[in-house]
Amino acid sequence: MNLDKIVVNSTTVIKKSASIQELEKLRVKYLGRSGEITEVLKQIGKLPANQRASLGKQANQAKQQIELVIKARQGELEQDQITKELGETKIDLSAPTPSQRFGHTHPINNLLSDIVRLFWQMGFEVVQGPEIETQWYNFEALNLPADHPARDMQDTFYLEDDNLPRTHTSGMQIRHMEANQPPIRIISPGKVYRNEDEDSRHIWSFVQVEGLVVDEGIGVADLKGTLLAMVQGVLGKDTEIRLRPNYFPYTEPSIEVDASCVICHGKGCATCSGTGWIELLGSGLVHPQVLENVGIDSKRYSGFAFGVGLERLAAVKYQVPDLREFWRPNLRFLEQF
Ligand code: DAH
Repeated sequence: MNLDKIVVNSTTVIKKSASIQELEKLRVKYLGRSGEITEVLKQIGKLPANQRASLGKQANQAKQQIELVIKARQGELEQDQITKELGETKIDLSAPTPSQRFGHTHPINNLLSDIVRLFWQMGFEVVQGPEIETQWYNFEALNLPADHPARDMQDTFYLEDDNLPRTHTSGMQIRHMEANQPPIRIISPGKVYRNEDEDSRHIWSFVQVEGLVVDEGIGVADLKGTLLAMVQGVLGKDTEIRLRPNYFPYTEPSIEVDASCVICHGKGCATCSGTGWIELLGSGLVHPQVLENVGIDSKRYSGFAFGVGLERLAAVKYQVPDLREFWRPNLRFLEQF
């Protein structure tokens, strides 16, 4: 038996094999139970003892070499198969990808960020306080004693121990003034709660931003300039505001601020009920008694304050007819913003 010849011949045919199946047949032909190399190994036992070792060694080397060639060819054939399959795969680069649903911030939170930025540019600080408030901070310190009729407008869900879910963020005026001396420039955003008969313009929980400025010589002009900057920042540069008298126990005078209608720009349309103006927020000059309640000298200092409901503002900005939409679990509504 010529081992070298077997190795040379097998190498040639193995390299030419065209498929895994064909390669397997060749493996059997050379290394299988009655394969050519196996046959050689079987003969070794019949040889004289002095020849067995060297021939055994040669036969095993031949076997290993053929195994290596088979392995290499197997790798090549597998790679060919993969390349072929890839080539047959049709990739349509214009096909739509499975859609990924990305979330985004809630429209009310977007508006809040805008407002925070606008006031930050004017040097205001943002302060936050508790949603469960005492009657003192929510009402009494703001000139709203228990029997005051103005409490009726802000009925809420009373809790034990004199506490209540705050009806407005105005209590933060008191908390901040107790702990800080003028000059004061703050806004305080947060959720507020009311016992409300809900309709398209009233919801039982909404986000309010309170604002407070206290310093020497603060007057209505400061209030107007500041709120005009905010309103124009949110609703657009061509928006105007108008001040009307109102009543809040914690301001004197009390001022209602209207914005010119974003739809008709003051001409009068269905959205503004033909008036050209849209009611936006309550404000006023801080009542001297409120300053005295927290130990600030009302002869020396004065201030203005305001409270704006963000759902109302967002509804004006985006022309949403029903405030309740903002807090309904309705993605088709929210995805528009
Ligand atoms: N607290 C009022 C409300 O919830 C809004 C308000 C009016 C806040 C006048 C103020 C203010 O600070 O001065 O309707």
